[in-house]
Amino acid sequence: MTHTYRRIVLASRPSGWVTAENFRLETLEAVPLKEGELRVRNHYLSLDPYMRGRMNDTKSYAQPQAIGATMVGGTVGLVVESKNPHFVVGDAVRGMLGWAEEGVSDGTGLTKIDTRQIPISAFLGVVGMPGMTAWYGYNKILEPRAGETVVVSAASGAVGSVVGQLAKLAGVRVVGIAGGPEKCRYVTEELGFDACVDYRKASDVKSLAALLAEAAPKGIDCHFENVGGDVLNAVLSLLNPFARVAICGLITDYNNPAGEMAKSAIVNPAMFLVARFKMQGFIVSDHLDLWPLGLGELAGLVAEGKLRYRESIAPDLAHAPEAFIGLLQGKNFGKQLVKLI
Ligand SMILES: NC(=O)c1ccc[n+]([C@@H]2O[C@H](COP(=O)([O-])OP(=O)(O)OC[C@H]3O[C@@H](n4cnc5c(N)ncnc54)[C@H](OP(=O)(O)O)[C@@H]3O)[C@@H](O)[C@H]2O)c1
Repeated sequence: MTHTYRRIVLASRPSGWVTAENFRLETLEAVPLKEGELRVRNHYLSLDPYMRGRMNDTKSYAQPQAIGATMVGGTVGLVVESKNPHFVVGDAVRGMLGWAEEGVSDGTGLTKIDTRQIPISAFLGVVGMPGMTAWYGYNKILEPRAGETVVVSAASGAVGSVVGQLAKLAGVRVVGIAGGPEKCRYVTEELGFDACVDYRKASDVKSLAALLAEAAPKGIDCHFENVGGDVLNAVLSLLNPFARVAICGLITDYNNPAGEMAKSAIVNPAMFLVARFKMQGFIVSDHLDLWPLGLGELAGLVAEGKLRYRESIAPDLAHAPEAFIGLLQGKNFGKQLVKLI
């Protein structure tokens, strides 16, 4: 007995801001499994900023998403049929099965996950790729020392919220930057950051730097950048000598039309000399060898109730484009997911 399932494909490449017309919802007939394959019913799809980059046909660290193919994306779900000796029906798995209600795999890139203590959705967030991104940038690039001040932008989000909580667990002063009073309140009152700057209250780099200087009176020793633009330039102007800056993402620039000057262009390169700081970009998938260690630590902290997280959940695959466009405008509050079952 065959059945159908839905998926979303890239219909066209955006120029500037993504629109709903860049996506197409399709219904497909499921195909029978071949020997060695398994079928996963996806329960959640992860929506992530990197997907915007894949929609472009430009030089990047990864290949562009093909037009007409299922949109790339991380998923968690349960094995519902298996002709693969390593997976049985009922196994919970994380993989990259894309914007689709189900997927067929030969097992490559699928990881079994233990959902006895941690809800399955968290394996796409705090104990998944975003959590690991925070763990890597925090531990391997920033390496904050006691008494230092760490700043993190998009502080209420999937990555930023973990960075700040890791800093607090290590006893380091942490200042978040987030959009709006509600997100800032969450960052300080629920996540325990020492302070949070609402960047929407600032009109330019100078006024943002003034707000940050109040929140970080001893200057900034470490910065975890998720946003770029004015945020990056304001932070750079306040760096202490020998500061470390981890460039994780520059979401401000993701929707720039081709050829437009990046908003994250550094306005005062003299700060490299003044502060003798080190700035390093990184891509979490370059460090797969560290994932078991990092994710193990994060899972332990979540299970002990020491690491908190928040999710924004779109109710159905058909809402994925709208939720993704919202993510690129800061409408999400916490890890953006799509519920598929
Ligand atoms: N290097 C890596 O390997 C790696 C891996 C994962 C993620 N990342 C990057 O990490 C960053 C955070 O990702 P995430 O998954 O944790 O997302 P997220 O923080 O959960 O959501 C994105 C947040 O970015 C802010 N934002 C969105 N559009 C913006 C815009 N146009 N200008 C300024 N701010 C905007 C919003 O927060 P506010 O409302 O507070 O502004 C929004 O909630 C992204 O830049 C992403 O590309 C990098």
